[in-house]
Amino acid sequence: MTSPKVLHFPDRPQFSAFMKPCRVEGEAHKLEVYGDIPDDIDGTLFWVMLDPQMPPFIEDDPMATYALPNPTANYGLSKYRNKYTDAVRFNIRSTANANVIYFNGQLLALKEDSPPYAMDPVTLETKGLYDFEGQLPSLTFTAHPKIDPDTGEMICFGYEAKGDGTPDICYYQVGPDGGFSDICWLVAPVCAMIHDFAVTENWWLRWNNSFPGHTLNAYENEKGNIIVDLGISQQNVFFWWPDSKGSAPEPSTITSQLMRFTINPNTTTETLSDPEVLHTGNSKFYRIDDRFATRKHNHCFFDLMDPSLGTDFESIAPRLGGGYPLYNALAHLDLLTRETKVYFPGKTHLVQEPVFIPKAGSPVEGDGYLLALVNNYNTMASELHLLDLKDPTTARAVIKLPVRLRPGLHGNWVDSGDMSSKIGVSTI
Ligand SMILES: [Fe+2]
Repeated sequence: MTSPKVLHFPDRPQFSAFMKPCRVEGEAHKLEVYGDIPDDIDGTLFWVMLDPQMPPFIEDDPMATYALPNPTANYGLSKYRNKYTDAVRFNIRSTANANVIYFNGQLLALKEDSPPYAMDPVTLETKGLYDFEGQLPSLTFTAHPKIDPDTGEMICFGYEAKGDGTPDICYYQVGPDGGFSDICWLVAPVCAMIHDFAVTENWWLRWNNSFPGHTLNAYENEKGNIIVDLGISQQNVFFWWPDSKGSAPEPSTITSQLMRFTINPNTTTETLSDPEVLHTGNSKFYRIDDRFATRKHNHCFFDLMDPSLGTDFESIAPRLGGGYPLYNALAHLDLLTRETKVYFPGKTHLVQEPVFIPKAGSPVEGDGYLLALVNNYNTMASELHLLDLKDPTTARAVIKLPVRLRPGLHGNWVDSGDMSSKIGVSTI
């Protein structure tokens, strides 16, 4: 491969200020901690972000781990490939930059246009594309699989499952021992992006066309109705893809709310009832206590944008860069009391998706901690903010990272006790 002639990133907001490519790989030990990390936290936050690695547009996407209680950060590189714009030829094109899960002893970086990408969970060494020991029936794998908390099964699907542009969808389940079951092929009416889905004990769901965001959770209630909680926007969140008439919303006007659909599976009408607005704020990146996935949940955690909280937008505007939605607070919504508690990290800070950490030994939903990456636009560096959900309005600990990390998408917390020793993975 010859060296690229252009050696700088394009002069665009998505490559400038806080969004300037990081291109960092390494480890940092003995991170600065303000406050205290509870003794019962012992695990690793696995996280992915999108990061252009080489100018002008060729990307590798770093994977990061943050281990607690001994605060250590480890950054490694996974892969990004755009088959339609590649200036050079790559042997493997998996992007692997949307989510990262730990399942059956394997760390898998996910993006829905390919099989998972296997990595060493300790060193972040890239192993390669992973087809579940030859069992993967689809060419693609969802970025948002669901784990049944009772059986340990992973519920998955792939769209464009027979190749680019195909309407085929493949549904499948992976047992905790890695065996595949319930493989089911469907043909969608059109080929379309299906980024997330909702699963209950007995159903998986479809709804008419809209711009749904990520699902919070779904379950079947005592009346047999299906409850689906998710973010809904009335606008085209992917504004960079105009509709068939060429129109697209102004990005700053796009909002999303957490809503609840209650669906009677025995109904004879095809028209769903209007959803209930669970929270009126502009929100995104919804999470629960994952031990209650596919079951009734009462605690919701998400990012919130509330300008009234006091973010100094005038100060941070030149430092934001572009291409990433802005949220300035973390929210905890208790569905039993309908009370929302808000954590505001600071006037020059914005937040990323939170993850819930269960309190060791406690089976009680929501009894634990919330951990999120926070962008500090004053120091132009990243931080981890840890909230004790006994009082989520203040940080229990702030862990300063010695680097600036572009905002990522998703990640997951893995308790040390759940980390298997069988990290050997056969790859494609
Ligand atoms: Fe996602």
